[in-house]
Amino acid sequence: MKFGAVVMAAGLGTRMASTEPKVLHKICGKPLLLHIVELLLSMEAQKIAVIVNHGKEKVIEALNVALSAQQKKRVLWIDQKKPLGTGHAVLQAKSAFQRFSYPMVILSGDVPAIEAKHIYDLLEIHQQQNPQITFATAHLPIETPYGRVIRHGGDVVEIKEAKECTPDELKIREMNLGLYVSSAENVFSLLPQVKNDNSKKEFYVTDLIKLATTKQALCLEQAESLLGINTKMDLAHEERVMRNKLNEKWMQAGVTLEHPETTYIDPDVKLGQDVVLEPNVHLKGKTVIASHTVIRTGTIVEDSIIGEHCTIGPYARIRPGCRIEKEVRIGNFVELKNTRMGEASKAAHLTYLGDADIGKRVNIGCGVITCNYDGGLRYAHKAKTKIGDDVFVGSDCQLIAPLVIEKGAYIASGSTVTHKAPKDSLVIARARQVTKKNYMPMLKKRLKRTS
Ligand code: UD1
Ligand code: CA
Repeated sequence: MKFGAVVMAAGLGTRMASTEPKVLHKICGKPLLLHIVELLLSMEAQKIAVIVNHGKEKVIEALNVALSAQQKKRVLWIDQKKPLGTGHAVLQAKSAFQRFSYPMVILSGDVPAIEAKHIYDLLEIHQQQNPQITFATAHLPIETPYGRVIRHGGDVVEIKEAKECTPDELKIREMNLGLYVSSAENVFSLLPQVKNDNSKKEFYVTDLIKLATTKQALCLEQAESLLGINTKMDLAHEERVMRNKLNEKWMQAGVTLEHPETTYIDPDVKLGQDVVLEPNVHLKGKTVIASHTVIRTGTIVEDSIIGEHCTIGPYARIRPGCRIEKEVRIGNFVELKNTRMGEASKAAHLTYLGDADIGKRVNIGCGVITCNYDGGLRYAHKAKTKIGDDVFVGSDCQLIAPLVIEKGAYIASGSTVTHKAPKDSLVIARARQVTKKNYMPMLKKRLKRTS
């Protein structure tokens, strides 16, 4: 079903007590607003107008980084120069929706867990009943500071903000979820009649209900995912709810979570069957992990691809841009960044591999470091290290990039390698050992203190 959307995201977010715009706070690694915009983009939203003001450059930049060029074309940014309330926010979209004939959905930028079915259900009811405006409600605990749905004889009359309610009205448990459907024509002809004669001196979009001659409320049973984020407590709560859902989805798909309470899987992560996640694992961004791979305790993987039958961790850090092929072993305190690791290669302990292209069956010993950064002296970018198949790098080596180690080469432990290691060569780049036989008793005698 085609529709247009106005996303209100210009509010100050005072209750977050933060210098960061509210809609950029993250849930499961993703800004609140991005959750919503991505959802709308995945639906048949013909036009998505986002109303911004507070920190708008930051907000637009954060979303533009995440969206594709194609997606960006469908998103329209509108500056609500002064945030004078939700009604005033929607009014800013007037010219963008002139002669727009599909239904218009109005929602907030602070409901990250909203799902397509909520929007489609509302659109459907709206189309069937054909009132001027349809909106979503739910029965919520009495202490929820949401707008109350005032009914007379069962019919909806208006929405009253909690602050404006009488003690009796505050007992009403049917509350406004802040999700509305109407036509652009209705919305923009009614909005100019909204007044700001309330305690906050704001123009409330909720007054549209009072002004509309025909209105319909859709009362949702499970409204958990439609609760807005207003405080840091809401943020933490919503994070838990969403994490739980994601974890359950993966367990249903055959992933083992040894301790779901401390397993953090971002929404865009993809996991194969029989992946095992030990406690305290963080899988971030667009990470992909193929079947039968074990991610051990304390490991962080971000925006990287890991093949099947690998073991990663404990305590490994796989930073963005890594491609780890099948049967690789990455052990404790190993950090990888922008690195390919070929099939059946190993880096089992205490290692940093950055900007490296590593072949198959390579052994990276304990304490190996690719020195990819020269402080900007010669190379504007981080320099590359290329390691061929079947290379052995002994423990405690520094590989000074740019560097090529060809297939089958063997790097002796403790080497600082600065020049190319040709195919099948042995490279030893360390000071020779000096051994002085029976030297110590003599030295001790000589140095013995006299006083
Ligand atoms: C709003 C509803 C309330 C409902 C609740 C559900 C109003 C007046 N009240 O209250 O009935 O129960 O949502 O979550 O609408 N915004 C702007 N420009 C502004 C003011 C706000 O864009 O001038 C944006 C905010 O950034 C936010 C959204 O509108 O994303 C909602 O504003 P908020 O202040 O969070 O409203 P609530 O108090 O939650
Ligand atoms: Ca809100």
